[in-house]
Parts: sequence; structure tokens; C-alpha cells
Amino acid sequence: MIEVEKPGGSGAGAITGRTRLYGIVADPIAHVKTPQVMHALFVEHAIDGVLVPFHVTPSGLARALDGLRAVENFGGFIATVPHKPAMLDLCDRVSDHARLCGAVNCVRREADGAMVGDMLDGIGFVEGLRASGFDPKHKRAFLAGAGGAASAIAFALAEAGVNALTIANRTQAKADDLTCRVSAAYPGIAVQGGDAALHDADLVVNGTALGMQRDDPLPLDTERLRPGQTAAEVIMDPVETAFLQAARAKGCRIHPGLPMLQSQIRLMAHHMGAL
Ligand SMILES: NC(=O)c1ccc[n+]([C@@H]2O[C@H](COP(=O)([O-])OP(=O)(O)OC[C@H]3O[C@@H](n4cnc5c(N)ncnc54)[C@H](OP(=O)(O)O)[C@@H]3O)[C@@H](O)[C@H]2O)c1
Repeated sequence: MIEVEKPGGSGAGAITGRTRLYGIVADPIAHVKTPQVMHALFVEHAIDGVLVPFHVTPSGLARALDGLRAVENFGGFIATVPHKPAMLDLCDRVSDHARLCGAVNCVRREADGAMVGDMLDGIGFVEGLRASGFDPKHKRAFLAGAGGAASAIAFALAEAGVNALTIANRTQAKADDLTCRVSAAYPGIAVQGGDAALHDADLVVNGTALGMQRDDPLPLDTERLRPGQTAAEVIMDPVETAFLQAARAKGCRIHPGLPMLQSQIRLMAHHMGAL
């Protein structure tokens, strides 16, 4: 819970007239975990800032951004579903990695109001995996999904030096497009579509939105998982999705979705100039 300064108070995390503002922009918004995770980081580092949720629909995104350009004590924001692809064109400048991924998830507001975007989802995912003891270098990876999070993970796994990457997605055209884009950017890596490589992969990732709802179908054929594989998730709520439960039952090592956020929270704070 955010502590509000009482008159005369100045405790860690207190909000004052000097507090710098940050945001997370999403639609819907209630499920986001970033405000509490960022608040803990701000308190840990005695940063006089607060990150608050902004519920903005796609039709209001450009107007909201223009308003935020005019807020002098606004440092930046995190963009999440469904705004990441649209932010690519709405930002004034974006990183090469964001352009490769086709999406932006973290924006810094510069002193002149310019918005500078980067994409940190994939880097956060890989750093979270490494922190848990799994280094993707020279490994074979299977990725379910070709949306915003999956695209960022695909490029970050390629950057991290996987030997092979297989991408499967409900909408085949999106999997084909992502496969082509990763192959073009990382020609030394065997990137393919389809699900034939699922059983042989060292790392199996759910990069889809499936698993948040109790009655969601599984994102991939978990019957083909085997002991020794690492099964990783992007979904944070529930902590252990049906995919992770099925993978655990098959003898896989499981890696939940929260470390992906925890690992990139510092990167986000740094990009927004807070850390
Ligand atoms: N842990 C973290 O730090 C973190 C960070 C970012 C995102 N996430 C989570 O990652 C998830 C995906 O986010 P996103 O930004 O990638 O969303 P997105 O761009 O909308 O992509 C959604 C993906 O899920 C697939 N999908 C959705 N419904 C499906 C269904 N009924 N059957 C089969 N496939 C389905 C989509 O397939 P189609 O292409 O066929 O539609 C697509 O591959 C969200 O739950 C988000 O909260 C977590």
C-alpha cells in the first residue's frame, strides 16, 4: 500500500509536492502488477516517485499521450495490453530493439515532452530465466505465441544465443511473419515454424495469453513434454497456470511468469530515468 505523507511527515514512500510521477497504461487495468512491484523498488532505493495505473482505451491513447507530454513532473510510463504495437508509431523515438519487435512497452518522457520508447519484455524474460539458473545460450527453444510478449521473447532468445527456435501460434500467418523477421535479424540461428520440435526443445515457453482464465485451453500439447525440459510462462496470475501444472506432472522444471516482470522492473525504472 502506498503511504501518503501526513502533514509534516516524510517517511519512505511518502507522496509530496516534489514526488515524480510515472504510470502504467492499459485496457483493462485492474489486473496489472507493476504499481506494487515498482513501488517496492522505489522504497528500496529511496526514490521520490510513484507509479499509478491509467485506464486508457485504444481510441484515447494518442490524446492521453499528448496530455502526458505537457505534464512537467511526469517521467514516463509502461505500456501494456493492448497498447504496445500502437506505441511504436506514437513515440517520437524508439530503440532498434523495439523496432525489431514491432512494439514498445516502456516510454521515457524527456524534458521537452518527447516520448522515447523501448521494448523490455523479452530482455526481462531472459534475465529472469538466467537468474533462476537456466542460460538459453546454445539451447533449443520452443515458443507458443506470436503476439507482443512472444515477439519480444523470440528476439531476446535469439539475442541470448539459442541454437534453434521454433515458433507456433494459433494464427499461422503471425507465426510465419515472426519466424521470417527473427531469421532475417539472426541468420545464424535455425528458426522454424510448426510444433514438431516441441519434444526435443530444452526450453518450452508459453508466450500466449492462454492461462489467465480457468477455462482457457492449454497453449500447446503438454502430452509431448518430457522430463528435463524447462517450461516457462508469461502469465503471472494465476502463479501456476494449467500449462505449468501439466509440465510439472510431466517432470519438467517450471518457471513462472513473475520473474519476467521482476527482472525488467529495474530496466523500466532505469529507462524512465527513475533509477
Ligand atoms: N510476465 C510479464 O512480465 C509479462 C509481460 C508482458 C506480457 N505478459 C502477459 O503475456 C500475455 C500475452 O500478452 P501479449 O502482449 O503478447 O498479448 P497479444 O499481443 O494480444 O498476444 C496474444 C497471444 O495469445 C494468443 N492467443 C490469445 N487467445 C488465444 C486463444 N484462444 N487460442 C490460442 N491462442 C490465443 C494469440 O494468438 P493469435 O495471434 O492467434 O491471436 C497471441 O499469440 C498476457 O497475458 C500478458 O499479461 C506478461
